[in-house]
Amino acid sequence: MRIAVFSTKSYDHTYLEAANTVHEHDLTFFETRLTLATAPLAAGHEAVCAFVNDVLSKEVLEALAEGGTELILLRSAGFNHVDVPAAEELGLTVTRVPAYSPYAVAEHAVGLVLALNRKIHRAHARVREGNFSIEGFMGRDVNGRTVGVVGTGKIGQVFLRIMKGFGCQLLASDPYPNHAVEELGARYVSVDELFERSDIISLHCPLTPETFHLVDEERLQRTRPGAMLINTSRGALVDAAATIDALKDGRLGSLGLDVYEEEADLFFEDLSERVITDDVFMRLVTFPNVLITGHQAFFTEEALETISATTMANATAYATGSGDLHVVTKGMVS
Ligand code: NAI
Repeated sequence: MRIAVFSTKSYDHTYLEAANTVHEHDLTFFETRLTLATAPLAAGHEAVCAFVNDVLSKEVLEALAEGGTELILLRSAGFNHVDVPAAEELGLTVTRVPAYSPYAVAEHAVGLVLALNRKIHRAHARVREGNFSIEGFMGRDVNGRTVGVVGTGKIGQVFLRIMKGFGCQLLASDPYPNHAVEELGARYVSVDELFERSDIISLHCPLTPETFHLVDEERLQRTRPGAMLINTSRGALVDAAATIDALKDGRLGSLGLDVYEEEADLFFEDLSERVITDDVFMRLVTFPNVLITGHQAFFTEEALETISATTMANATAYATGSGDLHVVTKGMVS
């Protein structure tokens, strides 16, 4: 198949080309994000391969369909950036990578917890300056803390298992409780109760209309004073502006983000020579108790191998009509 691959970096070339040796699709790599303006680049390609910040709105999908595209290959598990009903109306098939390394994301979330708790990001900066004072770096034992996980799917479960290893008390919230999670010793509670009782809250649910701004002003009022919030799932689960107020008055003790609602204009690019105009983001990075990474939780060798292999296999399954095709359909939650 002729596949137009958008939002590509050097690592995408490396891993997709390696995975493609057994499939022999014809890949055209574009560095640019897929938007309405760049959609014409895909003309003549039967498939478009897209990443998390590519725009797959109705208008973009229409433009792709007009250019001859039939298949959208997502290099992600999440599909909140795709207008799936519009794709179905246009006869476009959308596929994704339903599971790659859940460890990659869960371990990154744990990394944020540990770094924030013991101020490792600040210690690194101090030591580089020759400042060996530990004043202000006091943390708390993670052992014995109550950890609450919203969304106990593949990633949430790995996160819970790791935190159990630290000796934490476990709370969970999910519309579909999972017996394996209860066997770990986690207790399912409502999202509100989870916010009221947890010292560390980690979000691992998908972004849907129901979970948009799951963490808003009202929910932040419910947190235990000094609670830690970690979001490695999707930016719009959290109302970032509301976290600023909660951080200012100390209700939120610390915040770790790998995703940000307005990340599409920021993440994955080197903007160090430019003025960043997103005032909410810039305010967040000024807090000593906020740690932000630029959507790198998935970024391990194992994850990239699986993402690339599944993406190329999806293209082959579509082209040949045999093999597993991981289709996204209207009404799917995650
Ligand atoms: P999954 O589909 O295995 O689990 C998601 C869980 O969330 C399911 O158990 C589902 O029932 C639950 N859920 C759905 N609606 C909910 C709600 N309203 N409240 C609480 N729980 C709810 O997905 P997986 O693989 O664990 O991934 C979770 C999320 O992580 C993805 O949706 C994606 O947004 C994000 N992600 C982030 C990455 C990163 O690099 N930062 C990489 C990969 C995934």
